Amino acid sequence: MRIIAIETTCDETAASVIENGEIKSDIVFSQVLLHRKYYGIVPELASRAHMEKIAGVIGAALKKSGVEYKKNGRTFFKKVDAVAFSRGPGLPGALLVGRAAGETLSRFFKCRFLGINHLEGHVLSYEFENSKISRKLKYPFIAMIVSGGHTELWRARAFGKYKLLGKTRDDAAGEAFDKIAKLLKLGYPGGPIIDALAVKGKANAVKFPRPYMREGHEFSFSGLKTAVAYHLKDNYRLDEKNGFKITKRGINDICASFQEAIVDTLVYKAINACEKFKLKELVIGGGVAANSRFRLKMNEAGELAGINVCFADKKYSGDNAAMIGLCAWRKLNAAGRFKNSIEISPNLTISETVRQRGSKTVKQNKRKQKIVRSK
Ligand code: KG4
Ligand code: ZN
Repeated sequence: MRIIAIETTCDETAASVIENGEIKSDIVFSQVLLHRKYYGIVPELASRAHMEKIAGVIGAALKKSGVEYKKNGRTFFKKVDAVAFSRGPGLPGALLVGRAAGETLSRFFKCRFLGINHLEGHVLSYEFENSKISRKLKYPFIAMIVSGGHTELWRARAFGKYKLLGKTRDDAAGEAFDKIAKLLKLGYPGGPIIDALAVKGKANAVKFPRPYMREGHEFSFSGLKTAVAYHLKDNYRLDEKNGFKITKRGINDICASFQEAIVDTLVYKAINACEKFKLKELVIGGGVAANSRFRLKMNEAGELAGINVCFADKKYSGDNAAMIGLCAWRKLNAAGRFKNSIEISPNLTISETVRQRGSKTVKQNKRKQKIVRSK
């Protein structure tokens, strides 16, 4: 089965071809340079950049995978079984670009067109290793999505059977990294920059609050952000042009201390959810899953609690189209048991991906076909 997948939810324009569980091409054009000077994503700029880049990115994915090939100077295309696109959550203008490109492709290849939940992609991306679907998720598990736009905990009973346990009430974990990097004028995206600087700093230099919110599975990071802002205002002189006057060592210490507070919170919430639902499998995806301190502390905590921690490969933890192709592949293998919508949904939640009520299982469908045939 051959699938073309498209991802345009935020600031990555991406296309991929998945063939029988193998990534044949995975092209990602990052808009980071475009948004860097604003220390965050400007939606209008993102949509325009997606429009400019999408055709080239898809073209590169088709050529690299061999779907488009040349023979005797003429261009040919291999058969494609489905085209899939991220239908949400994401920026409305950006999603529309992916949807228009996907629909055009599905008409060109005369094949099925599937809408995929971007967050489900982040969870499933754990299955990729060495450009193949070579690891299998072990249901049931607790899923944690930590990205620039989302911080969520789910309980996953089977593919497509998810329950949202809690999400952030304000900033997402990645957003907090980006905002602190902006406050310190470090650059964008903040996560990888803070990750690198924190290695050189002392994690116990400043005691920032850990927003555990013990009573449930929700998160809140805006208080932590405010605590960092007050710490800076109270201790350093602000120069309008150059920002706070801090030594390099001071910056490293603040980065390490802030990162420690986020990481401690994420680790606590993840272990707490596993223990509450008596689950021994934890799957983590999204851009922040690439954080080195988080990976280390989460693995240590998992080992102590007897929980198997499954981090998506660093290469696939951020936004990519291969994870969208993987979701589509799983959906198609499930023989029509899942509802399909090709409408964009900027605020898409996980409950909208669930298995259709009263839908037939593969076995039931086969039994029905046999009965029809024997009539
Ligand atoms: O999943 P993603 O690529 O896009 C969204 O769906 O949002 O996540 C991007 C976010 C950004 O906020 C970025 O700062 C954060 O992931 N990020 C990290 C690291 N690498 C990326 N945060 C902490 N540590 C990292 N190493
Ligand atoms: Zn994402």
